[in-house]
Amino acid sequence: MPLPAPSASVRVVTFKIDGQDLSAREDESILEVCREHKIPIPSLCWMEGLSVIGACRLCVVEVAGVPRLLAACTTRVAEGMEVSTDTEKLRRYRRTLVEMLFAERNHVCSVCVSNGHCELQWLAQTCGVDHVRMPYRNAGYALDSSHEMFRVDHNRCVLCTRCVRVCDEIEGAHTWDVMGRGSDCKVITDLAQPWGDSTTCTSCGKCVQVCPTGALTKQGTSAGEMVKDQHFLPILARRRHIR
Ligand code: FES
Repeated sequence: MPLPAPSASVRVVTFKIDGQDLSAREDESILEVCREHKIPIPSLCWMEGLSVIGACRLCVVEVAGVPRLLAACTTRVAEGMEVSTDTEKLRRYRRTLVEMLFAERNHVCSVCVSNGHCELQWLAQTCGVDHVRMPYRNAGYALDSSHEMFRVDHNRCVLCTRCVRVCDEIEGAHTWDVMGRGSDCKVITDLAQPWGDSTTCTSCGKCVQVCPTGALTKQGTSAGEMVKDQHFLPILARRRHIR
C-alpha cells in the first residue's frame, strides 16, 4: 500500500534490518517495512487491510537489546533499532510453530480442496517442515455444508481469525466470531448456528477468500479451482479509509 506523505507529527526513523540501513515512518510496523522492501518474514494472522492481532507469532524477529522475541506485525520501527529476521533461533521457533499447527488439527493436504493453494502448506515448505515431531491430537472437528454456496471445515482451521475480522471490519456483518478457549476454540457463525441458518451472513464470500487454508471454501470446487483472490482487501480498506 503506498504510504501517505509523513505529516509533521509522524517522524521518519532510521534503523537496520538484517544489516540493511532503512528508513520509514515511525508508525509503521517491522512487518510492513519488511514487506515493502521484499524482506521475507512468514506470517499467518496478519493481512493487509485487516486489524493487527499478533496471534500466530510466526512473524517473530530478534531486536538487539530486547531479550525476548517480538512479533514483527505488532512492533513499530524505532530510531536506531537493529532487527534480525532470519537467525537459527527464529527458524527453529517458526518451524515448531508450524508443526504445532499441523499437529493440532487434521491438515491432510492430499484430501483438501486447497491443496496447492494453501498458506499453511506454503509455510511448511518455507519453514522446512517435512515431518511433525510431536503427536497429532487427532481430534475430529465438524464440517458444516449448510450454506448453499460455502463450506466450513473446522479440521482445516488455524484460528487466524481473518474471517472474523474481514466480516466485521470490511463487510460490516459480523457473522463470524470465536467461541471457546484453548483447543476447544473455534470460529462460529451467529450464535454457533449452522452457517446456512445465519440471518446476518450476506453471502459475500470475503471470509472464504481471506481464509489461508481449506477451512473456508466454495461448495463444489475442485483443488484446481479453489484459488483464493485476496487483492480486493487492501483496495476496499483504503477506499473506506479503514487503514
Ligand atoms: Fe504477526 Fe501473526 S503475523 S503474529
